[in-house]
Amino acid sequence: MALLLASTDFWEDMEVWSASLKSALPELDIRVYPDDGNVNEVEFAVVWKHPHGILKKYPNLKAILSLGAGVDHIISDPDLPEGLPIIRLVDKKLTHEMCLHSLHWVLHFHSDQYLYRVQQSNREWIQQSSVQTEDRTIGIMGLGNIGRSIGELLVTQGFNVIGWGAKNKSSLKDIKYYYGEEQFGDFLSKTDILINVLPLTSNTTNILTKNKLEFLPKGSFIINIGRGGIINEDDLLSFLDDGHITAAALDVFAEEPLPENNSLWSHPSVYITPHIAGQSNPNSASKTIAENIHRIQKGELPYPIYNKTNGY
Ligand code: GLV
Repeated sequence: MALLLASTDFWEDMEVWSASLKSALPELDIRVYPDDGNVNEVEFAVVWKHPHGILKKYPNLKAILSLGAGVDHIISDPDLPEGLPIIRLVDKKLTHEMCLHSLHWVLHFHSDQYLYRVQQSNREWIQQSSVQTEDRTIGIMGLGNIGRSIGELLVTQGFNVIGWGAKNKSSLKDIKYYYGEEQFGDFLSKTDILINVLPLTSNTTNILTKNKLEFLPKGSFIINIGRGGIINEDDLLSFLDDGHITAAALDVFAEEPLPENNSLWSHPSVYITPHIAGQSNPNSASKTIAENIHRIQKGELPYPIYNKTNGY
């Protein structure tokens, strides 16, 4: 029986991924698309931005597993085989990377590093007055596995952390939680540094437009490591231009790679990274994927399965 690995993005790493999956699942034949061999033998597809339309080729496919935390790259395929479980990747290493990435930018903004960089280029020696961590509120949009871990890390550093999501959640220790459309404005108005970790769904697309961004206090910061489509980039640019938002660290964009002519590239208050905040680690992700495949083989439920109603 075989596992198909398909991606349009990780080509240079395919040998590494294929070797890691082989060592985690020695009983399966690992095939890299388009070398899929006998299509009847393919039972599992492990994908990251797979070429749309290909998954219908495999009549005995049992599950589609994402190589990343998000599954929007799978759901956006208009030609998916019906009725198969789609499994997200919840992986400790990836979560840890997202935590470190967030901490980096929180400190960059919190400790005025963005100002000292400019001062250095002007040979200016100006000591900014420091803000205590407890006086800085970090607002996290999306308190799933990743958002919660980021929040807990920031709490241990003494920050005031609040969160927002679509649905009510049982109380989270040390993180005040806001939910639903009604509490969104209140949440934003209390946020000094906004971190977005929401998945892209029909409910979250373009959720941060002008009429929501204006709830953020003047002088706030944005860190986007969820999906680009959640923040309206034109509105963000105009809030950066007029200084309402001081700076933004963006790892994800509505269109990726970010087109060369996009104005975000050259904005002095924008920090761009090329979607690297949480890179899947072949070793640990392959082990997580193997655990899920073994669950399916034993007739148990893999975790977590994409929920169509929630959109993630
Ligand atoms: C990255 O964006 C992922 O979904 O893991």
